[in-house]
Amino acid sequence: MDEAVRLLQADNVVAIPTETVYGLAANAFSDRAVTRIYACKNRPLFNPLIIHFKDLGEIQKIVVCSAYARQLANYFWPGPLTLVLPLQDQVPLSPLCSAGLSTLAVRIPAHPLALKLLERLPFPLAAPSANPSTFLSPTCAEHVITAFKGQVPLLDGGECPKGLESTILDVSGEKPLLLRQGAIPRKALEEVLGMPLLSPLKMEKVPLIKAPGQLLKHYAPSKPLRMNVKTPLPGEGFLTFGPLHPSHSPCLTLSESGNLEEAASTFFKRLHQLDLLPIEGIAVAPLPEEGLGEALNDRLRRASYKAAPS
Ligand code: TXA
Ligand code: MG
Repeated sequence: MDEAVRLLQADNVVAIPTETVYGLAANAFSDRAVTRIYACKNRPLFNPLIIHFKDLGEIQKIVVCSAYARQLANYFWPGPLTLVLPLQDQVPLSPLCSAGLSTLAVRIPAHPLALKLLERLPFPLAAPSANPSTFLSPTCAEHVITAFKGQVPLLDGGECPKGLESTILDVSGEKPLLLRQGAIPRKALEEVLGMPLLSPLKMEKVPLIKAPGQLLKHYAPSKPLRMNVKTPLPGEGFLTFGPLHPSHSPCLTLSESGNLEEAASTFFKRLHQLDLLPIEGIAVAPLPEEGLGEALNDRLRRASYKAAPS
């Protein structure tokens, strides 16, 4: 922890645990530090970052919170909800964080180590998921070490309890807009807001300006991936939801009992495991399009996306 504080104060990046996935963190007030995040991830500079704060007071110094944004914040923070809010003028934030947009994505993470770190720093932390751009998100220290070949300093907090990124809600306008499904299911948000959210964005309708990071190819293992598969092909690794396949090998399950929360927490771990096996591709069984299943199916669609030949 002391070393992480020292490194972050000197504008370095440090991989840190959050309740969702590991983040690649750096001082959000420093151009030099934020530039290092983009370089390390090989992330396009037009894809803005989520900024992590220790409390709502600090957030309100940087963005403008509407009444309903505050209501969501009070209910879900600390926790896996990211809110996109209008930036105030004249803030000390590096403009690289928002990639030049007039809005900023913010959240208060619920992981005790992340909060302890934020308490000790005089600045918030910009932190995208700690993986090279477009690849699988890391849910344990080993994933980070493998992805960056041990070259990134790491605060090891064990396995991330949620295992799935935060849900992103754009609350900068009159109506909340679900930009990314994630660890908080849509229904839970709708209950607190007392209104239905605009229907989850289907891939082809993703407005690029609103969510530059919602790239069609994302969260991808290095092997080709097929979703909604009932019968895997020989040579494919099979990922089931429920019991293992009686005869296909290799086969792993997201949740033996068919529990979606467990499936969310094992999702990236299982894909990392399969990706390391000597197989030709990954086949994933159908997942219900409800609750956290919506977020998992969204990630599978992006992971299996193939650009049309141009
Ligand atoms: O759970 C999480 O959210 C993790 C942990 C580390 O906090 N972080 C994470 O960050 O998933 P990242 O960079 O992998 O995903 C952030 C997403 C991107 O798709 C980005 O485009 C979007 O947030 N985003 C950031 N700022 C935005 C903004 N102002 N408007 C719209 N989308 C924004
Ligand atoms: Mg990411």
